[in-house]
This record gives sequence, C-alpha cells and structure tokens, in this order.
Amino acid sequence: MSRADLVVVANRLPVDRVEGPDGEPTWRRSPGGLVTALEQVMQNLDGAWVGWGGKPDLDVEPFEFDGTVLVPVPLSRDDLRDYYEGFSNGTIWPLYHDVIAAPVYKRSWWDAYVRVNRRFAEAAAKHVQDGGFVWVQDYQLQLVPQMLRELRPDVTIGYFHHIPFPAYSLFAQLPWRRQVLEGLLGADVIGFQRVEDAGNFQRSIRRLLHYPTKGETVTVPTIEDAARTVISRSYPISIDANHFLELAQRPDIIARAQSIREQLGAEKLMLGVDRLDYTKGIRHRLKAYGEMLADGRITGKDATLVQIASPSRPGVEAYQELRDEIEMSVARINGDYSTVETTAIRYLHQGYPREEMVALYLAADVMLVTALRDGMNLVAKEYVAVRADNTGVLVLSEFAGAADELGSALLVNPHDIEGTKDILSRSLQMPVAEQARRMKTMRKKVFDNDVVKWGQRFLDDMETSRARRNDA
Ligand code: F6P
Repeated sequence: MSRADLVVVANRLPVDRVEGPDGEPTWRRSPGGLVTALEQVMQNLDGAWVGWGGKPDLDVEPFEFDGTVLVPVPLSRDDLRDYYEGFSNGTIWPLYHDVIAAPVYKRSWWDAYVRVNRRFAEAAAKHVQDGGFVWVQDYQLQLVPQMLRELRPDVTIGYFHHIPFPAYSLFAQLPWRRQVLEGLLGADVIGFQRVEDAGNFQRSIRRLLHYPTKGETVTVPTIEDAARTVISRSYPISIDANHFLELAQRPDIIARAQSIREQLGAEKLMLGVDRLDYTKGIRHRLKAYGEMLADGRITGKDATLVQIASPSRPGVEAYQELRDEIEMSVARINGDYSTVETTAIRYLHQGYPREEMVALYLAADVMLVTALRDGMNLVAKEYVAVRADNTGVLVLSEFAGAADELGSALLVNPHDIEGTKDILSRSLQMPVAEQARRMKTMRKKVFDNDVVKWGQRFLDDMETSRARRNDA
C-alpha cells in the first residue's frame, strides 16, 4: 500500500464495523461530527486515516474505504478502560471543561495514555510519505505530535484541539502538565476553536515552560539551537452547510418534518440535541423548563420539549450518574405536567441518522443549545444551516464556542435559571421579523465559513510551515 500525502490521526476511524446481510462484518461511514468535518477535506487528497476501529481487540490490516486508506489501531479492553474511559474521559475531558465534573488523576491511566499515544504515533509514522503531512485530532492524542516528530522529523505535523483549552489556574492541576504541553509542541501548527483557547494555551506555555510567545506563534528551543516556530491560533470548526441545506430541501425530509409537527399536540416545538454528557447542560435546561411549567408560564398545549440525548461513554461513572439524574427528572416533570393529550418532555436516549436530525431541525421553532461548556457545538450551526426561510430561534450558551460567531442567537448563561426561563419565554414569543433578522445574520456566518474553509485554512498554515522549514 503506498504511503499517503496526508495522514489524519484521530481516536476513532470514520467508519463503524457492522454485520452485513450475510453475517460478514463490513464497514459503514459513521455519523460523527469529526467525520462530517473531515470527509470533505480528505476527498481531494491522497489520504490515510489512523484510528481505533470501535471494538475492543479488533486487529485488522489497513484497507481502503471510499478512496481513503484506513489504518485500524487495536485497543484492548484494558487500553479502553485506562486510556479512553480513564485518562481521556475521566481526567482530560472534565479538566478541560472547567471541572464541571471532578477530574481523576490516576498514574496507571497516564501510563496507558502514553503507551496508546505511542501506538498511534507509530502507525502514522509508517503510513505518511516522505515530507508529507500528518494532522492529529483532539485531546485523546495530545502526545502524538512530539512522539511523531521524534520518529519522522521530515513530516509537517498539525494538531487540532476540538474541545476547550482551560485557563491556566485549572490546567495547572494536571500532574503531567509539562509533558502534555511538550507533546503538543511537537506540532508545527496547533489549532483551537476559540481565540480564548489559544490564549489559555499560550499562557500555560509561558508559565510552565517559559518559552516566548508572540501573537500567534510560540518559539520552541531545540538542541540543534535553531529555535522552531510553532503556529498556535484559532480555527473555528464548521459544517458542510450546503449538504445540510440540500437535505432540508428533500421532499421526504420535508414531509417527515410536517408529520412530526402534526403529531405534537402542542403549538410550539422546542428541541435539544446532545450527547448525554454533563457538559451539555441538560439538567439545567430541564430545571428551567420544569419551573416554567410549574409557574404556569407555559403549558403542555403551548409547547413540548423534544430532548434527544444520544448514548455516550456508558463505561464512565459520571455518565451513568448523569443518565439516572436526567431520567428521574424527565419522569417527574412528565408525571406532574403531561396530560392524556400532551407530553411535556419527549426524551429520547437514542442516536439518529442525519436525515431524521434535519427533519427535527425543520420542525423545531426553538433550538436549545445551552451547554455549560462546549468547544464549538455543531448542532447550533446545523440548525441555522437548514432554516432557509429564516424562521426559528436559536438559544445559545455563551460558553459554547459557536457563540463567538453566532452572536445573533439569543445568548444565555445556562447557570442562571431565572435568566434562562426569561430567554425561553422570549424565544417562544419572538416575532417573525426579529427571527428573520437574527437568522439571516447567522446563516451568512455559517455559509461563509463552512468546513471546507476551515480545513483549507488549517492546511494552508501547514503548507506555510513546511515551506518555511524547507527554506531554513
Ligand atoms: O469533540 C469531542 C469528541 O471526542 C469528538 O471527537 C467525538 O465525535 C465526540 O466527542 C464523541 O466522543 P466519543 O468518541 O468519546 O464517543
């Protein structure tokens, strides 16, 4: 198999292993946000993708899928417990999301993280061609850039961080904080969602490593004594907006949206679509909604809340507790405020295909994206992309990265329950002229800065970095 110009390294491959009709396992493109973002970027390149195949102990040879070479990295059950559920999602995830849940610092998890990051780095080193590009994705793989640089000093390395990068005062808790920064600084280009994230990262570099930073660059000393310049800046990720718009114009999806509306038994549909994760603010949202029903500010006839909470990381304790709390709260609210004809909250602990999501976006009068912390939140952008008639209201948390671009949404502090209730009332009553004014501005942002642009900006900076290195 020939080596690739561009190798993407991510925790997961962009495919799921499923059983075909004959019982034989086959691969199917998975619906995740990262996959959606990168499929466009990869299409025009001779690319490979290194990642875990989604099942424990799955050890299969690299294979081609839709023009991309996929390189499965095997992870054992112990790797998954200690590297994925442990260090990635029990340490880094809560720490980087402002300690909404308490991070656990366990040395055996760190050891697994180092071991597994090395495995990903070795796979990437094997599959990238001389002088090629490797683009590492996200917090599960922060050590890969430096490990890869040691194995393949000829390649240009990018790293994109999809989740928030925390303030120094929080990051400083991490017992392995210096190793993580050094791991990341193996990259030539380090991308973040928000300007604030890039600022937090640079502050940590100055405080912990004492390397100089200037504007969007970090100067990293090397033993060969010619210092290396690393670009570190924000590249807000986006969606394939035109693809979502095309789906929204399909007659079957429009019909599905109408049928959802007809079955509601309420005048307005409010929609929440999240992974079942404590960062998403689902509990706070339910509290505000429940209180509005209790106060008589809304009735089941006025509105219904459809809350999709797709299953996520069920092996991590904090997610199990969250699920119990949410389900208890939904049951209580429905017990108190539903009627034979109306349902206060329709809670769905399931994942749905993109087509069904688009139908729901089209049916929803109000989209609730009230995360306590979120790197970007692509659901907000997807809702905006499909609302071609400029109706609909987006309620958006200030603490989601999307708020930097979508300032015309109704911005909310989800911790402020009274404030949230006021915003929810306002969203239900917003005149169509105001909806249109806000939606137009947001749609322009989403269509002007789609995922193709995002990928291009990042790859352009990698090109610049390679050219600078070749000139030196
Ligand atoms: O943005 C964070 C992220 O890890 C994405 O890369 C991924 O699509 C999503 O969360 C789901 O996480 P997991 O791979 O742990 O199911």
